Amino acid sequence: CGIVGYVGGQPALDVVVEGLARLEYRGYDSAGVALVTGGGLATAKRAGKLVNLRQALEEEPPPAATVGMGHTRWATHGAPTDHNAHPHTDCSGRVAVIHNGIIENFAALRAELEEAGHKLRSETDTEAVAHLLEDELKGGAGLAAALRAVCRRLDGAFTLVVMSADEPDVVVGARRNSPLVVGVGRGENFLASDVAAFIAHTRDAIELGQDQIVELRADGVTVTDFDGRPAEVTEYHVDWDVSAAEKGGYDYFMLKEIAEQPRAVADTLLGRIGAGGRLSLDEMRIPDDALRDIDKVVIVACGTAYHAGLIAKYAIEHWAGLPCEVELAHEFRYRDPILSRSTLVIAISQSGETMDTLMAVRHAREQRARVLGICNVNGSTLPRECDGVLYTHAGPEIAVASTKAFLTQLVAVYLIALYLGQVRGTKWGDEVTDMVHLLAEMPDKVDKVLETMEPVRALARSLADQNCVLFLGRHVGFPVAMEGALKLKELAYMHAEGFAAGELKHGPIALIEQDLPVVVVVPPRAREVLHDKIVSNIQEIRARGARTIVIAEEGDTSVLPYADTLISVPAVPTLLQPLVTTVPLQVFACELATAKGHDVDQPRNLAKSVTVE
Ligand code: G6P
Repeated sequence: CGIVGYVGGQPALDVVVEGLARLEYRGYDSAGVALVTGGGLATAKRAGKLVNLRQALEEEPPPAATVGMGHTRWATHGAPTDHNAHPHTDCSGRVAVIHNGIIENFAALRAELEEAGHKLRSETDTEAVAHLLEDELKGGAGLAAALRAVCRRLDGAFTLVVMSADEPDVVVGARRNSPLVVGVGRGENFLASDVAAFIAHTRDAIELGQDQIVELRADGVTVTDFDGRPAEVTEYHVDWDVSAAEKGGYDYFMLKEIAEQPRAVADTLLGRIGAGGRLSLDEMRIPDDALRDIDKVVIVACGTAYHAGLIAKYAIEHWAGLPCEVELAHEFRYRDPILSRSTLVIAISQSGETMDTLMAVRHAREQRARVLGICNVNGSTLPRECDGVLYTHAGPEIAVASTKAFLTQLVAVYLIALYLGQVRGTKWGDEVTDMVHLLAEMPDKVDKVLETMEPVRALARSLADQNCVLFLGRHVGFPVAMEGALKLKELAYMHAEGFAAGELKHGPIALIEQDLPVVVVVPPRAREVLHDKIVSNIQEIRARGARTIVIAEEGDTSVLPYADTLISVPAVPTLLQPLVTTVPLQVFACELATAKGHDVDQPRNLAKSVTVE
């Protein structure tokens, strides 16, 4: 969910709605605002995207206000209806609450409140908080003290932002596990789930810690813990500006972010390659001695970041010579993984807020493993919880389906694998240095891919009526196939599956029928055995009627007789190939979904940052 709070001199409604628009990628099932207006509260909320709320506000403009808050929702408890949209109010209508997260003991709290005579009007866990606050306020507590008392009673992860008509100059926020940052302005202050909401007003931010309460007034910000003790906070300056969070002439953020990939890859490499191809990754904050003692790597992540992890496995086993397991973060946590002080856990998360991944990190740290984060968002939760972090520096990624964040995650995992190789001195010493030089050429190679995407777009448009597309790959091409399929599911709502080409004959080949589009990612010719095996696989599916779409390195003529469509990418070493083979798959999914008339930035049912388990 996206949360915005504002106290200052500007019209609060404009600041809040503009902030919500920048956060809409975090959830768009419904949206709502609350304002403190002359002695009371005004609220408005609507199911569906923000445009519905905007329309309602135009039809019935609320009174002017300089204190307000807003919310865009990704539904957890209760369907995405007007009624269940946030803010929620108490019986008196004088307290309003917005919330991100899940309150786990909500059923018990609700029962207790109903027994005490409260009438709850929605099915949400959030409304219970409004009623609990009402009781605390009746008992004489101020709004911040009341929220502290309520938070002490809540189980689960949450960000809460509350306002009261009786304290018209303050917005109070609470944070446990879910994201919340403060934007510090002059004579005005902001609260939001991420800095994008207030970047047009200020780039000075305060990162809140767990279990903290913030009181936001026009002239200052006070942060305490749930017991009211002053809390320590970290201030930081955001190093990108508002233009980075705007479409800049593109129809969709996704198109812009795909186009930004050469720059993003270059930014991930920036400052990390030293003289003679030596890598320096001091920010990892894990001493080289400790890295030499590592005997196993475990990678945890979700969604697209998980696919980056699957590719990392090949790189780490090869260049670092270490065993490497990759696991979906939500599965890892509920097993009994065998970890020790010499296990390096790498958590990959663009947002740094994915609750499943954060929980996996905590699970790993409890078992004393060293934890390294790969993250794109400065000031997010993941870096705080890891021993060290490698930022991907991709800039803000707004489209829900990940593109530039994925490519930069790949660069980050290559850097880590090569650095481990460098520090540990594996038999691939020379290759490690060569690879570092080749990595530096990757922004140009990605750029070359982007220049040749027109036929891919035409192909995508021609397949808009299909119901299913399969993707095949071997070695690192297998996770690329999975990522290509995920993009198509997310954006085009089509059945799409990525298979290991070798597995085809063990089952999936039964799916092949006349004219079924099958995308095949072919490894470089230099990996002869792999390459030739997949060429055989292409023949096997073509013989059964599949329409083959083959992605192969330029000059690879061996695939020509079996490719209905050939997409050529620059020749690069096998392990680096995902950086060039993923790009056509992103373009393919984006164009196909657009041809179907879908909004690629905000696909149905998804949210960019899933802060609940
Ligand atoms: C959500 C998004 C995916 C993303 C995944 C992991 O499910 O819809 O696009 O890959 O979260 O996000 P993270 O921020 O942890 O990389």
